[in-house]
Amino acid sequence: MKFTTKRPALAALAALAAPLAFAQPNPALIDNKPAFVADLLRQMTLEEKVGQLRLISIGPEMPAAQLAEEIAAGRVGGTFNSINHKEQRPLQEAAVNRSRLKIPMLFAYDVLHGHRTSFPIGLGLASSWDMEAVRLTARTAAVEASADGVDVTFAPTVDISRDPRWGRTSEGFGEDPYLVSQIARAMVQGFQNGTPAGKVLGRDSIMASVKHFALYGAVEGGRDYNIVDMSPMRMYNDYLPPYKAAIDAGAGGVMIALNTVNGQPATSNTWLLQDLLRKDWGFRGVTFSDHGAITELMRHGVARDEREAAKLAIKAGVDMSMADQVYLKELPGLVKSGEVPMKTLDNAVREVLGAKYDMGLFHAPFLRIGKAEDDPPDLKADSRLHRAPARDVARRSMVLLENRNRTLPIAKGATVALVGPLADAPIDMMGVWSGQAVWKQSVTLRTGMEKALEGQGRLLYARGANVTEDKAIVEYLNFLNWDEHEVVQDKRAPQEMIDEAVATAKQADVVVAAVGESRGMSHESSSRTRLDLPESQQALLKALKATGKPLVLVLMNGRPLTLNWEKANADAMLETWFAGTEGGHAIADVLFGDANPSGKLPISLPRSVGQIPTYYNHPRLGRPFTPGKPGNYTSQYFDEPQGALYPFGHGLSYTDFSLSDVTLSSARMPRGGKVEASVTVTNTGERAGETVVQLYIQDVAASVVRPVKELKDFRKLMLQPGEKKEVRFTIGEDKLAFYNAKLQYLAEPGEFKVQIGLDSQNVKEQGFELK
Ligand code: BGC
Repeated sequence: MKFTTKRPALAALAALAAPLAFAQPNPALIDNKPAFVADLLRQMTLEEKVGQLRLISIGPEMPAAQLAEEIAAGRVGGTFNSINHKEQRPLQEAAVNRSRLKIPMLFAYDVLHGHRTSFPIGLGLASSWDMEAVRLTARTAAVEASADGVDVTFAPTVDISRDPRWGRTSEGFGEDPYLVSQIARAMVQGFQNGTPAGKVLGRDSIMASVKHFALYGAVEGGRDYNIVDMSPMRMYNDYLPPYKAAIDAGAGGVMIALNTVNGQPATSNTWLLQDLLRKDWGFRGVTFSDHGAITELMRHGVARDEREAAKLAIKAGVDMSMADQVYLKELPGLVKSGEVPMKTLDNAVREVLGAKYDMGLFHAPFLRIGKAEDDPPDLKADSRLHRAPARDVARRSMVLLENRNRTLPIAKGATVALVGPLADAPIDMMGVWSGQAVWKQSVTLRTGMEKALEGQGRLLYARGANVTEDKAIVEYLNFLNWDEHEVVQDKRAPQEMIDEAVATAKQADVVVAAVGESRGMSHESSSRTRLDLPESQQALLKALKATGKPLVLVLMNGRPLTLNWEKANADAMLETWFAGTEGGHAIADVLFGDANPSGKLPISLPRSVGQIPTYYNHPRLGRPFTPGKPGNYTSQYFDEPQGALYPFGHGLSYTDFSLSDVTLSSARMPRGGKVEASVTVTNTGERAGETVVQLYIQDVAASVVRPVKELKDFRKLMLQPGEKKEVRFTIGEDKLAFYNAKLQYLAEPGEFKVQIGLDSQNVKEQGFELK
């Protein structure tokens, strides 16, 4: 009896306990993502849902211990900037052991051009035109970052920039939609190890979150965070393709831009985040606001208060809120009052949970954090770096702009004077988004050249100048960046440094001057109105020129500079951007001919700031400037020569290449058909070398004004001395299509010009007709 009376009570308890036992991720559903996520969502309280949307980092306002408590209370979905297992482990333990639903945290970080090992900055990577090198960079970064517990990176940055005043030009991949789209794809594939959208990432992969959606590179006047106002046709044809390419390649995340897009901040832009991203492009993944962007809706003047800011952002489609607390504070009230439907909140939470599922965190929350006993004893150990690929990619990222009288390569028996503020600058060499790279591990040009000349020639060194003598600029850069040694100033009088450099130069056979910007000059919030070398460096170069010694400029900078004097006066110029941890070795490899430069400009170099924008693929005009036919009333600046100082696609080699005329397989292309364009490239010089054969197309007459030419394909190839290779490009309608005035994507019948060259200016041309 006793038992019979007790049994129903026990059974009732057991029945109650059954759902409780699964009040957490249900392992039985782990192979069915939608069911798994739905099951979890069903169990969540309103507060727990809102908690999942919160992305914060440890900081003065949020010490680690407090953060762990917040996590245990189900009030945090992820952190950014925790890249240390010792820091992450207790946070993940708080999530999976102490929070009610045991939902794992995600750990995010800005992994841009490398992580522990710094690779060349975006513009440098783009200069390689080498998608294997790009993929290798992202893959290596993912291996290093995942070993540091990172699950997701805020990268790649694929913002097209046609305005080098914008400091973040350094971070993106240049001005061309096709090239940047190819790189976007390769970066995503590298980070995610080829894992497509919606599939679970492996341990050594990290999720890519393409940024900054959208059009951040088009901020007015190149001034960071400024507005963007753009016609839909330009948007669709020129600026949007790279984001789309990253998403098509499987990027699991999207970071939303800080700027406005035609009058509405991207963060509250329903058209952008719903209609375009989700509906038209079919993006299924997580969106992140940029740092503090939801709060900034008030400063933009579209939200009266925090409540309205939160409401606008969640309704527009911002899933995770980075760094601001307005979701946490306001969403519960907004949902309770019915101003934000629960469904809207659920949509955001579903994406966050789905992203965590795809990161593999529900399968194994400590996947990338590992066990304490396996923690690397020294996070910064040199053995954790990948120096060989970094050196290889850096070599490929350099652009030989000029090489008069074959000044380069320099013979290894020579006495070389190395001068300039960037010759021995390990911090700058790393580039600005250098992740967890350690400046003491980066190889400066001075070290690289010393090593290359060991036992042979002689290296003399003098600093010669500071990057700038402008105290306000130095102060600003020190404030902007995070390294205590950020900008190193030599306290000597400028003339004293120049005199020393000149005396050094006089003892040498050749002078190598490492000049340009300090890395912080090409960064977030570092727009410039002038793009010439700072005066201190110009004075140094003029004094060096006066010695009559051959003058080689090694340029380190994160954006196109205006290099008029330099072009006219230097014997050789090598654009090295910021080449990364192995930069010094890689540059020395090129200077002394152990590597033959093969980079091509991914962005036009303007003559002056007044000439910006100077992009090669500009729309056709009614009164274009025609070289050789100077006349009145054509589109030009009358006070300086027209066109870029160095065009898009330009880059020399230590060998020479010649290109045959273009042959087309047919002068007509039927609908749905193809035309093959071929050229033969010959290495006419005496060294093996790589070059990039570039295919441009012009739509001769269309329903709307189209660009003078557009890059549509390219091939990088290695040729031995005397070797010839035929390059064939297949042209289908996809290469002719564009968004017309009604934003329909199609190829219009008519004549097309096919132009093939080794840069965007000197091309061979043939025409065909699309029926
Ligand atoms: C930048 C983002 C970056 C974020 C987190 C922001 O200021 O605009 O690109 O991902 O900070 O570091």
